[in-house]
Amino acid sequence: MKLNLKIWRQAGPTAAGRLEDYAGHDISPDMSFLEMLDVVNEGLIRQGKDAIAFDSDCREGICGMCSLVVNGVPHGPDRGTTVCQLHMRRFKDGDTITIEPWRAKAFPVVKDLVVDRSAFDRIIAAGGYISVNAGGAPDGNTILIPKDLSEAAMDSAACIGCGACVAACKNASAHLFMSAKISHLALLPQGQVERYRRVVTMIEQADADGFGSCSNEGECEAVCPKEIPISNIARMTREYVKAMFAAGK
Ligand code: SF4
Ligand code: FES
Repeated sequence: MKLNLKIWRQAGPTAAGRLEDYAGHDISPDMSFLEMLDVVNEGLIRQGKDAIAFDSDCREGICGMCSLVVNGVPHGPDRGTTVCQLHMRRFKDGDTITIEPWRAKAFPVVKDLVVDRSAFDRIIAAGGYISVNAGGAPDGNTILIPKDLSEAAMDSAACIGCGACVAACKNASAHLFMSAKISHLALLPQGQVERYRRVVTMIEQADADGFGSCSNEGECEAVCPKEIPISNIARMTREYVKAMFAAGK
């Protein structure tokens, strides 16, 4: 396939960025989207030009590093798919594809398509650890957990922290991400000790990092590669209200 690519180039965090045109030649439909970018970069390097900077690590939909907005949609056109697992067979010969970085105040551009998502790390750090009784490894059945709860907690734990939910939201809200982490622990007995402190400190940190609030648009759920449901946001709000009551506020 031949493709017309419009790719965001930005030399650094404070430099002005712009969309630049590139031609994608000899693109196999079996390539992943990132392999297509690798081919474009090989061509640029052969010409002595600056390669396009983009993030990736596992390329298996696990790590959450790949962060591209493809034709206006974070992670591209396939539902429940990271951009590293998007394949070029999804596009047609001669297509024009626009590729941009996540856009949110809390995720500043580092270079080209790479953004700084350390704000998510600060939210996780603000949530803190869970208390455990140190000692020998406990027997697997020491704490019995109903199957529906363990599965709901596991579904929430599927969040890979990619940030697509923020990129899709007109408020640049981190609520879907935070609610996945909070639900994961609030549903399990192990998460009860710091349950109320956790929800308050994580939301405070998100506010401090410049993420917006949630106005129930649902864009986050639509682009989430792990299909985390927005019902988690309702649970997070209930957790927050309970925490406020518990603190007498
Ligand atoms: S909730 Fe979904 S979109 Fe948001 S960070 Fe987690 S996996 Fe990515
Ligand atoms: S590179 Fe790891 S999820 Fe895409």
